[in-house]
Amino acid sequence: MAKNKNNQAIWNTRIKKQTSSLFLRVGNSIDVDKRLFKEDIMGSIAHVEMLFKQKIISFKIKNKIIYGLNKIKKEISKKKFKFDKKYEDIHMNIEKRLFQIIGEDAGYIHTARSRNDQVITDLKIWMRDSTNTIDYSLDKIIKTILKIAEKNIETIMPGFTHLKNAQAISLGHYLMAFVEMFERDKKRFLNNMECLNENPLGVSALTGTSFNIDREYTTKKLGFKKPTNNSIDTVSDRDFVLDYLYSCSVCSMHISRIAEEFIIWNSDGFNIVKLNDKIVTGSSIMPQKKNPDLLEYLRGKSGSVYGNLFSMLTILKRLPLSYFKDLQDDKEIVFKTNDILINSLNILDEVLNNFSPNKKKMLELAGSGFMTATDLADYLVKNHSISFRNAYQKTAAIVNLAEKKRKRLEDLTIVELKKVEPKLTEDVLKVFNLKNSINSKKSYGGTAFANIKKMILKYKKK
Ligand code: ARG
Repeated sequence: MAKNKNNQAIWNTRIKKQTSSLFLRVGNSIDVDKRLFKEDIMGSIAHVEMLFKQKIISFKIKNKIIYGLNKIKKEISKKKFKFDKKYEDIHMNIEKRLFQIIGEDAGYIHTARSRNDQVITDLKIWMRDSTNTIDYSLDKIIKTILKIAEKNIETIMPGFTHLKNAQAISLGHYLMAFVEMFERDKKRFLNNMECLNENPLGVSALTGTSFNIDREYTTKKLGFKKPTNNSIDTVSDRDFVLDYLYSCSVCSMHISRIAEEFIIWNSDGFNIVKLNDKIVTGSSIMPQKKNPDLLEYLRGKSGSVYGNLFSMLTILKRLPLSYFKDLQDDKEIVFKTNDILINSLNILDEVLNNFSPNKKKMLELAGSGFMTATDLADYLVKNHSISFRNAYQKTAAIVNLAEKKRKRLEDLTIVELKKVEPKLTEDVLKVFNLKNSINSKKSYGGTAFANIKKMILKYKKK
């Protein structure tokens, strides 16, 4: 073991020249990976406990190391630890400090491991916690949505395709669509946990080790399901990082789509939702303005998250197997992504708690654009035994008539309707009622009020 005097790098027996100041500046990652200190110490404690159990180190040395590590954990938690860029990363910073606290016995800690397996062990443990936090935030949003959806089961609004009025829907049903999106996100993150759950510790630099280690033991200690199978794959693998970033990207995309929708709905053209003053900002020149900045923040940030996924994909592309310095960037990418996503989820929750539907305007807008035309076509199929295509043509003719007369469908008289389809009776007029239209969509997953109620209940029970 190289002596650890005068703050020299661990490898100073071999590398004689001072590291170039340029490399010192860019090559270190301590500002980023110090965030892994708890996980690093947890991994190291499991490692030395295993080394002792396997009679690779003595009881005394194990205890000394654990004592030192716990002291370091306290120092870092209390912000009393001096991180030094010279020692590159969190692993070396901790090891250096361990030497200062317990002396030369610190040299036993790195037996049968490498930073290559150490760093991914830390990152995987960290990612498990991050995933749990994201899952919790998703649950919180889902609860918020259920609460608002329940209040808006009977709030009628236009449903759009191509942003053109299509068919009437319930706002509650619309909001419940978000629940489905976030439930899928939860599943995606949960699936990742499955792949993530293999313990890298013990594969060492790339080959495994000649020491008689027990990887099952550290696997249990660190809460993994099993040890990884192949030492070379283990140190090269960042698939779990990609899975995580992809899941974050999809979740951000969901958030961004919702944000975009609310921006449109809040625009003066639509004006079907109002945002509480808590979540809008003013303009420095136009005194009247109330801008949906927070929503724009959400939409914008999804771009950064996608960027992070692509950074990682690009780093991995053409990287031969086993460890390369290129991989060091994974942590910055993951941490940035985590922070954006957690922020975005909290902001979205705040937005959802601070908007109100402009029900009058929603109904008014739902009244335009001949939105019950499909209901009329369905009625013709059901009551006049004609094919849907045939009914579609007759309904289109009725819409043309209404447009020509500058009337809404419900304002056409039965006499006018009979001109297109003589078999029609007064009974048809009920299909032009928006509430009837919505409640007729009883098929599973459809917008009928009763369906929404059932679905909300189902999720509330969950
Ligand atoms: N700080 C390094 C990283 O994050 C730890 C692994 C270093 N391994 C090495 N062979 N240089 O990737």
